[in-house]
Amino acid sequence: MVKICCIGAGYVGGPTMAVIALKCPESEVVVVDICASRIDAWNRDKLPIYEPGLDDVVKACRGRNLFFSTDIEKHVADAEILFLSVNTPTKTSGLGAGKAADLTFWEKAARMIADVSNSDKIVVEKSTVPVKTAEAIEKILNHNNNGVKYQVLSNPEFLSEGTAIEDLLYPERVLIGGRETPEGQKAVQTLKDIYARWVPDDLIITTNLWSAELSKLASNAFQAQRVSSINAMSALCEATGASVSEVAYAIGMDSRIGPKFLNSSVGFGGSCFQKDILNLVYICECNGLPEVANYWKQVIKINDYQKRRFLNRVISSMFNTVSGKKIAILGFAFKKDTADTRESASIFVSQGLLREKANISIYDPKVTEDQIQYDLATNKLDWDNQVPQQPMSPTARKQVTVMWDPYEATKGAHGVCILTEWDEFKDLDYKKIYDGMQKPAFMFDGRNMVDPVKLREIGFIVYSIGRPLDPWLLDMPAVA
Ligand code: NAD
Ligand code: UDX
Repeated sequence: MVKICCIGAGYVGGPTMAVIALKCPESEVVVVDICASRIDAWNRDKLPIYEPGLDDVVKACRGRNLFFSTDIEKHVADAEILFLSVNTPTKTSGLGAGKAADLTFWEKAARMIADVSNSDKIVVEKSTVPVKTAEAIEKILNHNNNGVKYQVLSNPEFLSEGTAIEDLLYPERVLIGGRETPEGQKAVQTLKDIYARWVPDDLIITTNLWSAELSKLASNAFQAQRVSSINAMSALCEATGASVSEVAYAIGMDSRIGPKFLNSSVGFGGSCFQKDILNLVYICECNGLPEVANYWKQVIKINDYQKRRFLNRVISSMFNTVSGKKIAILGFAFKKDTADTRESASIFVSQGLLREKANISIYDPKVTEDQIQYDLATNKLDWDNQVPQQPMSPTARKQVTVMWDPYEATKGAHGVCILTEWDEFKDLDYKKIYDGMQKPAFMFDGRNMVDPVKLREIGFIVYSIGRPLDPWLLDMPAVA
């Protein structure tokens, strides 16, 4: 029986360990966290994160060989394999603020491992970290000089939220990086044996430590770059009368480009893309590669431009003022099938509308009112740094309502913004929504969810990202 412990019971630690426990019933898997309420929720019926299929996997293993605990030191001391899956946010102050990864949580966890361990361990980097972090963790682990031997591996996680369980059960690849020494390779093999229980051998790839660490940052940067590329095209489509979905379809049929990840949107969100590219930019700058840093920085700049462009379009279309008007926001999560709102474009758009004194009415099928209030009161980049929650100002609070029904949220609205691609938004009764709205009724589709021709037939003035503009909108150019 292999004893596994994972430090960090978040979006990665929880689902990843649940799947390992499912596939390796003879191993004991304990997930530990400093956040008692999160651990408590993992031990209840309503899990702390929403992820399709997660409930079933957790129910199959919890109490059998999967455990969630706050008794961190005991389980760390007992384990043979330790996964480190703590958050690695962007630094908000000091050297590298706004770019570098904040390794405070990471280092605290590493120091604790060094302090409590009295048997040899394999320490696996699951968090996304700057390249060469394994060297730093080796130094921390070995500073105690108490005879305990550690092997550090890099095993970055490639799951996407909303499809995490599918991604974990049927990964496109598993990447393991280790030291090129006999001890390092033995540790790589030990971890490989775990994944080999359900992942075909040819999909488990092994590299040196630095390649594994950098591959994760590179993978996220390439994916985000695709979204920024199609979003950059969406602006040109609007200016020329081309349609971004037709362009995406046409270019995606070239097998060298491929059809996936070419959905133009109001901008990418999520806890990873921006953070990891900023980190990549910082690493390039630190390595004296300003041209490479600037290349990747542009991916973020286009994303910021896209979010700003959308917001400005909403305001300019409605006679350049939304003051006192009701705007309905459909979708607050950063993508469908998750309740996660980290870096969601909805936060940016909502905060912008509030600054313009609009009243906003928000509907999302999974995000709670508390989460929305927290997000709207939180400064950019503070969300992952355990900054104490600020209450919304009384004025802002009056401007925001959160509804559990899309028809209630849109009733009496001057405009509707679709900001998350929840499937249910495709099938809403848009005639009913139109009938309940103020006229002229505006629809701003930030996800290309609804056929603009049908919406125009109903009577809406439609802005659909990257698609030919209504004559109305052509008369009111948006300033980005
Ligand atoms: P998260 O914030 O959901 O979870 C991290 C958890 O670590 C938190 O519950 C926090 O309380 C806990 N923690 C922090 N310091 C601790 C300590 N010293 N001891 C015990 N617990 C501690 O973060 P996440 O989304 O799970 O991401 C974790 C890492 O995985 C990040 O580096 C992220 O970049 C990477 N990653 C995330 C995703 C994703 O989709 N969310 C995908 C791939 C990789
Ligand atoms: C991402 C990576 O996909 C995953 O491999 C990594 O482990 C973590 O970061 P995630 O952030 O969960 O996963 O979701 P993803 O599906 O990549 O979407 C990120 C953002 O890009 C979302 O806001 C999504 O709506 C947006 N997006 C994605 C688009 O706007 N258009 C697309 O075509 C694809």
